[in-house]
Amino acid sequence: LGDTAHRFKQQAGEQAASLVQSGMVIGLGTGSTAIFATRRVAARIHSGDLSGIVAIATSRASETAARCLGIPMLTDDIPREIDLTIDGADEVDPAMNLIKGGGGALLREKIVAQASRREIIVVDAGKLSPRLGTHWLLPVEVLEFGWRSQLRLLESLGAIVTPRIADDNLYRTDQGNIILDSRFGPIPDPTGLAGKLEAHAGLVGHGLFIGLASDVIVAGEAGIRHLHR
Ligand code: A5P
Repeated sequence: LGDTAHRFKQQAGEQAASLVQSGMVIGLGTGSTAIFATRRVAARIHSGDLSGIVAIATSRASETAARCLGIPMLTDDIPREIDLTIDGADEVDPAMNLIKGGGGALLREKIVAQASRREIIVVDAGKLSPRLGTHWLLPVEVLEFGWRSQLRLLESLGAIVTPRIADDNLYRTDQGNIILDSRFGPIPDPTGLAGKLEAHAGLVGHGLFIGLASDVIVAGEAGIRHLHR
């Protein structure tokens, strides 16, 4: 399955890269699928097929990768609306709502998605889900200050919560915050849950992306499908 999923990720990412046009401000996603789009955009720039591109990355890691590939980058500011962003996702439901943040970049990914005219999500078909939470944990980014009170809040909402660990320490996001991976199981009302989480101080981000994807490109055994909102 690993190799097949890899091939599908490549197909979805490269298909999305074909939608980039000269002169665009583009958002570059994070993860093993979005990187295929980033590489293809770089190849199109170097071949002369694309010009006047400037990009903003959704994580320090994707910024470094894009710079190494020679893509002109913006840093830390979004001076005008982003024309098109290409990003991955961990789970996609039939309404094109998403869980993101497996790679820990959920907050910047959401800032960039909200600043984008088109948010194109690239996934292999294994990411499709009847209901968010069925296959994936919901990542929640919290300030270190008082983080155990956010953990208790998530538990009171029905989640089994595991603080994310890296190298035997609490994992840190690009903002220096902590991730609480929250197993809700199938989430009956993602919009309602997002509202409860957003009402709580100290909880700086969560991986529910409601109504943000304009397009989903899915690659699988049946070929490549392009879903539009
Ligand atoms: C990063 O924080 C995530 O939102 C990624 O977009 C997501 O985890 C998809 O990653 P893969 O494309 O590597 O599966």
